[in-house]
Formats: sequence, structure tokens, C-alpha cells
Amino acid sequence: MTSAKPLQPAGFLAYCRPGFEPECLADLQARYGKRGQQDTGAGWAFVSAVARGDEDEPSFSSSFIFVRQSVPVLGRVSLPERDRLTPIIGFLRAFSPEFHEVWIEYPDTNDGKALSGFAKKFQPYVEKAAGKEGWLKEYTGGPKLRLHLFFASQNDVFIGIRRARDNDWLCGIPRLRFPSEAPSRSTLKLLEAFIMLIDEPERRLKSGMTGVDLGAAPGGWTYQLVHHGLKVFAIDNGPMKGSMDGHPQVKHLKEDGFRWKPKHAVDWLVCDMVEQPVRIASLIAQWLASGMARQTVFNLKLPMKKRHAEVERCLTLIRDALDDAGLRYRIRARHLYHDREEITCYIRVGKD
Ligand SMILES: C[S@@+](CC[C@H](N)C(=O)[O-])C[C@H]1O[C@@H](n2cnc3c(N)ncnc32)[C@H](O)[C@@H]1O
Repeated sequence: MTSAKPLQPAGFLAYCRPGFEPECLADLQARYGKRGQQDTGAGWAFVSAVARGDEDEPSFSSSFIFVRQSVPVLGRVSLPERDRLTPIIGFLRAFSPEFHEVWIEYPDTNDGKALSGFAKKFQPYVEKAAGKEGWLKEYTGGPKLRLHLFFASQNDVFIGIRRARDNDWLCGIPRLRFPSEAPSRSTLKLLEAFIMLIDEPERRLKSGMTGVDLGAAPGGWTYQLVHHGLKVFAIDNGPMKGSMDGHPQVKHLKEDGFRWKPKHAVDWLVCDMVEQPVRIASLIAQWLASGMARQTVFNLKLPMKKRHAEVERCLTLIRDALDDAGLRYRIRARHLYHDREEITCYIRVGKD
């Protein structure tokens, strides 16, 4: 009788937005050195890294910015046109794994999305075969383990198993419901930021707090603050629309977001002005360092080239200002699903 191989990952797979593979790779290389490799093409929406054998899977709060989600990979298997199941089960037999659920995933590309129908049909076959092998266990509490089958194409699958985490999304794509009362789809960007970047959001974002929204019109971000019970100063020369036009919790001021300042410090500052990233970073640094706001979510609109370097420049500028002011703080920066040529940052000043 042969003993099962340990579930030691051969590498990690990182999902990203198509076109951002070099930035995703730079994130991996910052962590794994040159073992991060782009054995995948441009526009593939994922990058893989080879693990040394003693690495932990990157955690949700890791320093990754352009990696949307990551999975430790046991191996990559080429599949024939017919009977794709047999080679996958054959590969897994060496590990005799145990897991509680199966996710069939694919890249966030047009070719990837074309696999969604196949993924739905294939899933019950995998579950049935895994059940027969005794691998698929009923979940009764404790750590939940998940089998990930990531189809780069119908004939090329990455196979991984890992602990399910909060904020995991199938294919790394959050499915958020658009609130019909919100005046713009950008509302989903701030909603995603609240879900993905803030720990204990119910404590950090609550009724009775005050907020400022710089570049607020037509009001998608203001809507999210209002929805969480905040009173909001909405700063924009443009008009607030729909439910945010004349809302009792909203004071709309037609002012320049780079000049206007509140009379009293506020709990929250959000900013979605389309401007050079370094100008936004300086503005945010000024607000936080002077104590005008304690928490902030803002976007940095990125140039087409040297995106990683630009992000680093902006975050360094902010860190230097907060260090000079003697403040403690946490920064999280991520390329969220709803971000296009931009990233979203969350900063909280204070000890907790
Ligand atoms: C991307 S839109 C904001 C969308 C908004 N977050 C939403 O969810 O509906 C950018 C806004 O920034 C505003 N803006 C740009 N420069 C500004 C400035 N210097 N002061 C105030 N608003 C500005 C523009 O008028 C525009 O309405």
C-alpha cells in the first residue's frame, strides 16, 4: 500500500484583472523572489509562482495589491478533449485528499467566461467522483477545506486545495447586488472596498459618524456612507442625483475638493476625484496628518505604464507624512474587482 502524498503546494496561482499580469507578477515576486513566474501569457488574468515548500499561503491581509485572490496549487494537468474527469481524479489519488466543497473556476477573461457553462455542468461529476473516492466530506464545523479546479482552458487545469476564507469569491469575482436607489454604479466600488479592506466594518462604519465625500457627484459613494448611517458633506461642482439629491443626511457643497476643509474633524474621508495619483496622495496625507479625518477610502487612478512604481511613490508619500506626524496607522491597497485603471486604498489612523 502506498501512503498519500502530503498536500504540499507546488506553487501558488494568483488571479488578477486581465492586462494586469505584470503587476500581479511583481506582487508575487516581492514575496517569492524570482520564483514568481509568468508561465502564462499577457491578458490571461492569472499568474503562477513556484513555491519552495515551506511557504504559507499569503493571507487576506497580505501586502498584495494586484493579486485578487490566490490558491496554493498541487499541480497542473493537461486534459484530453473527452473525459476530463479521469486525469483529475487520477492526479488527486496520489494525495487522497479530504475536502468539503468543490469550486470550478476560470479566468476573468472573455475566453474564461465562455467556460462558465462547462464549469456548472462539470461540477456535479467532480463531486460525485470525489464522493465515491471518500474525499468529499460533509461539513460539520471547524476549518472548511475546498478543492479548487481552475481551468485556464478546457484542456488545462490547475488543481489546489485550501482552507476556505471569508471574502473568497468564485473566480475572485465578488457578486454584489447593485442597490437600485444608488445614483451610480460606482457605488459598488465603495461597497467592495468596505467588504474587502476593512476589518470589523460594523465597528468602523456606523450611525452617528460624519463623513466627507470629495468628488461626490452624482452620489454613488455618498449613498454608501448614508446607507451606513453617516451624515455626509458631499463636495462637487456637479449635481447630486436621484436619492442623493436633497437627502436629509447629505449637505452638498459646490466647492473645490482640493481646497475645502471641514470646520470640525470628521470620522471618514472618501475621495473618487479623477486626478493625478500623487495629488490625491498628498491631499489624503494632509487630511490624515492634520487630524481632519481618521479613516479614509480613496482611489488612485493609475497611468498605463509603471503602475507599481506609481503606487509605491504615492503610498511612500503618505507613510512619510503620517510618520512625521508621529501617527500609528494601517494601510491596505488593493486592485478591486470594480476598479479598472485604478486601485483603492483604505487607511485608518490610531492604535486599534
Ligand atoms: C468619478 S466621479 C465620482 C463618482 C462618485 N464617486 C459616485 O460614486 O457617483 C469624479 C467626480 O469628481 C469631481 N471632481 C473632479 N475634480 C474635483 C475637484 N477639484 N473638486 C471637487 N470635485 C471634483 C467631478 O466633478 C466628478 O463628479
